[in-house]
Amino acid sequence: FSQRDAKFLFTATKPEQYKRLSNPEFTFAGRSNVGKSSLISAVLRSQSLVKTSKKPGHTSTLNFFGLTSSTYPESAITVVDMPGYGFRSRDDWGQFIMEYLSTRKELKRVFLLVEAKVGELKTTDLSFLELVEQYNVPTQLLLTKTDKLKRTDLNIVSAKVLRAAMDVAPTAVVPEVICCSYKTKVGVDAIQEAILRASGV
Ligand code: GTP
Ligand code: MG
Repeated sequence: FSQRDAKFLFTATKPEQYKRLSNPEFTFAGRSNVGKSSLISAVLRSQSLVKTSKKPGHTSTLNFFGLTSSTYPESAITVVDMPGYGFRSRDDWGQFIMEYLSTRKELKRVFLLVEAKVGELKTTDLSFLELVEQYNVPTQLLLTKTDKLKRTDLNIVSAKVLRAAMDVAPTAVVPEVICCSYKTKVGVDAIQEAILRASGV
């Protein structure tokens, strides 16, 4: 991945707006303020492309980004920034995202972000995991903002959240947690590798 290969495509709340895109797609989901938009900007290697904010509830639509690679200059991978849940009510968050998760065949993997310092899955995370299990969407946990935690605590937390997630979504959850930090850029390479592997590019 390199900066010149990433571009902002469009925002969407309806399938008509994104259904013409048929590349392998990867979506970043999780509670508000967990660091989705920040991490996407690191993965795309483009600070200016993705809007982040200290205020929770910043991202309110599905935001689509395209990636090309040197071997596939035309065929991009699609990366989607999701609005966070847990800030607005489930009804506000719900409808177009449920529609997206249940119908999006191009979706190769959801990255479910959990803040390391929070240290556990919240009710909203568990509800989300029930959805991906129901819709059969492969989902990988990312532990975020790990710069705020000690290494030993990180190991404990990642094992704990993985166990909890696999209890709820044994089929959907990929049995490997990636520890990452936007601040130190730890884990960014691992996310890129996971994307490339799962996209078959
Ligand atoms: P919503 O769009 O509201 O759902 O939030 P989001 O999940 O997209 O979070 P965003 O990336 O906007 O980041 C929220 C806040 O967390 C910002 O103030 C970021 O600077 C901060 N943040 C993000 N990643 C990290 C990290 O790795 N370490 C630290 N220390 N702070 C981070
Ligand atoms: Mg955001």
